[in-house]
Amino acid sequence: MSNMKQIAKMARVSLGTVSHVLNNSANVREPVRQRVLEAVSAVGYQPNQLARGLRRDKTNMIGMVIPDITNPFFPAVVRGAEDVAFANGYRLVLCNSDNHHSKELAHLNELRTYLPAGIIVIPSNFSDLTAQAEVYRRAGTGVVCIDRLPKNWRGDSVTVDNEQGAFQAVDYLVKLGHKHLATVTGPLHLTNAKDRLAGFNRALDEAKIHILPEYIQEATFDKRGGYLKTLALLHLVPRPTAIFAANDMIALGALLAIREGGLRCPEDVSLVGFDDLDLGETTNPALCSVSQSGYQLGASAASILIDRIKGDDGPAKHVVLKTSLTLRNSVTTPPEMSELHLVQPSNFVRRH
Ligand code: RIB
Repeated sequence: MSNMKQIAKMARVSLGTVSHVLNNSANVREPVRQRVLEAVSAVGYQPNQLARGLRRDKTNMIGMVIPDITNPFFPAVVRGAEDVAFANGYRLVLCNSDNHHSKELAHLNELRTYLPAGIIVIPSNFSDLTAQAEVYRRAGTGVVCIDRLPKNWRGDSVTVDNEQGAFQAVDYLVKLGHKHLATVTGPLHLTNAKDRLAGFNRALDEAKIHILPEYIQEATFDKRGGYLKTLALLHLVPRPTAIFAANDMIALGALLAIREGGLRCPEDVSLVGFDDLDLGETTNPALCSVSQSGYQLGASAASILIDRIKGDDGPAKHVVLKTSLTLRNSVTTPPEMSELHLVQPSNFVRRH
């Protein structure tokens, strides 16, 4: 007797009900579902996903490619996507591109050979996702883009309102009285970094505050980039009294540079980040930061993808989530101009 028939007999249900439970393809009353799952376990049945995938030309796998698993922002995004995928009977396979387009391309090419039900991507630097999504589309597989958009992207996407989030943070610094502001941006070929800089510039424009180009330092979205570029800012005269960091990892590096320069945050230099990571509660001082929900980004992307898998062939969806500003102790009113000359760059101790 086949495994399926054994399960049906043991659970006292039809073969069709067994198939619905195994494929999550119809609503089955919970007590019946539990009886079937217990029978599956008792029989030791293991469906052959690859064989099933070949029959259907699709597996229940969703591939996800992210830039940098060591950036604590991304695990929340993955968790949001995985929760929604799992609740709908899909399994997430995670790949890390190291923010490099060639590794991202290698992952996308290999994932395609596993007949995925769909793909979620946070594009790497100089991503070629737009072309790759077309290859997937021709194979009948949907791709949803999260967080930053590659060139000429026309597919489904989920981002936050980066421009408004940055504007709100910098406008708060302006209203505290800061006139000597600076920013350490992310890589400006990425749309999220570019939009955060646009929000910074709009807040200054509306306050009629003009800054020289050197008060805008482009970095990578990591602590090292934040550290090095903040050192450069702190040598400027007049020294900035407030810095907007384009993400919390940059802000961590900025805190390090401020401390190594013998300066105090926020008394000498106020600091605002972006992401509102949990670690911002434990830094000294606790980090004021623009809050974006990585979890919601991932969950929204997976929901759009599963609607596509179920047959939604409507126009492309562009979900833009709102941000908020979490106020903490890393910001205050600017020091009196007289204090600005208390600590000169000669106090800096270079890190080895
Ligand atoms: O990838 C770097 C940044 O992009 C993250 O920290 C988060 O801000 C995302 O938008």
